[in-house]
Formats: sequence, C-alpha cells, structure tokens
Amino acid sequence: MSRKPIIAGNWKMYKTRQEAADLANGLVSRVGTKKDVEVVLCPTYTSLETVAQAIRGSQIRLGAQNCYFEDQGAFTGEISLPMLKEIGVHYVIIGHSERRQFFGETDANINKKAAAIYRHGLTPIICVGEMLEERKANRTADVVTKQVEGCLAGLPADKVAESVIAYEPVWAIGTGVVATKEQAQEAHALIRAVVGKMFSQNVAEAVRIQYGGSVKPNNVTEIMVQPDVDGALVGGASLEADSFAGIVNFG
Ligand code: PGA
Repeated sequence: MSRKPIIAGNWKMYKTRQEAADLANGLVSRVGTKKDVEVVLCPTYTSLETVAQAIRGSQIRLGAQNCYFEDQGAFTGEISLPMLKEIGVHYVIIGHSERRQFFGETDANINKKAAAIYRHGLTPIICVGEMLEERKANRTADVVTKQVEGCLAGLPADKVAESVIAYEPVWAIGTGVVATKEQAQEAHALIRAVVGKMFSQNVAEAVRIQYGGSVKPNNVTEIMVQPDVDGALVGGASLEADSFAGIVNFG
C-alpha cells in the first residue's frame, strides 16, 4: 500500500492578501509542478480566493483552516462548506489544537465538521495530539486514542480511508521542540491501529497521517522516513517560500 506524502502549510492568522499572493506565487515557481508529494496551502479565509488564483494551473491544492458544519443559516462569523468549495478548497483542517484551546472545539464538534466535509466532497485534515502534562503523565496513548475515536465515530469507512489525520503533540507546536522520530512513529502507529480497530485494516492502511510540530527543512527527512508518517502539517516554516519548499523537497 503506497500512500502519497502530503505536506500542508498552515498559515494560521498570518499574511495579508498581498503577502499571501507573494508567498503563493513564490511556491508555485518552486514546487508548483511537484507530483510525488501533494502540496497544500491553508491561508486565512480572506486570502483563500487570492491563493486559489495564484495556484491555478499548478499541482498545489488549497486548504481552509476551519469550517462550520451547517450549510447556511444564522451563525454569525462562521463559514460553510459550500462557500469554501465554491472557491476551490480541497482540504479543511479541523480540530487544530489552537482551536481546541482558544475556541472550545471538541471531538464531538470535529466529528460533525468531518461529516459535513464529506457530504460536500471535500477532505478533512483532522488534528489530534496530547499536551505536555499529558505526555509527562504517560497519558499520550489514552488521550490520542480518545481523540481519534471521538473525531471519527460513526463516519463512513470509505471516506475515512481518504482522509488525513495530523498528529500534532501540543508541546511541539511553535516551540522549536520537535518530537523525536521514535515518538512520532509510535503515535502514528497507534493512530493507525485505532483506525484499524474502528473500521478495517484496509482503511487503516489507506489513511494518511501527517506529523505536525516544529517541522523544519533540517528535521523533516528523519520524520518523513518513518513507516507510519505520511506527511507534515507545517506552521512557522510554511510562512516563507524557501523554508516551505525545503520541506516539500525532503529526502
Ligand atoms: P509549527 O505549527 O510548525 O509552527 O510548530 C504546526 C501547526 O500548528 O500546525
């Protein structure tokens, strides 16, 4: 079973539209024809259209950083899947630890978002990961298992197989402290096993699992070569064309 590597840049709340256009153009010229790795850019909502235009005709795909699960309605401040789809979004990050931490996102509502994403033919990047205190208390496996089970409960197996899960230990995000290759592999293997138990061996072998947390050009390769690591979700190092291209061109 060969899983195509997927490297996504999560631009978080950075870049004006002009800056987003410059970065996207820079990436089109550096990695826009790359076919052996799937490259995804996830700008802010206000830059989605700009980036969609910049990457048109290239191999790069567009992702959003969040969504709401209803198609429309009186939900001030929210953005729906039909709106994202219209712009050309393929992937939607859900359950990022910053959304769990600052915006009250729960496994139950990530689960609803995933179902809505599938309903509209898009693909979720579902984030899970333990906090530092949880790792120190040897609770990593429990916490991650519970998150995966909660996020994927009741979802259709064929859609889960096409999905992306991002393992992002919270203590590694934006800290410069990257998980060791052993820590990453261990968590990824666990996630794959949980998916296997919930669905089937085939689904577990198909689902792609990204590592996220302080991925840089100089540490990406040793993580990417782990058997259960299928990609990276990159924050800080995705904000600059040279460093993100360096990550995409790992190995
Ligand atoms: P980082 O962020 O690469 O800056 O650690 C990763 C993420 O939050 O997705």
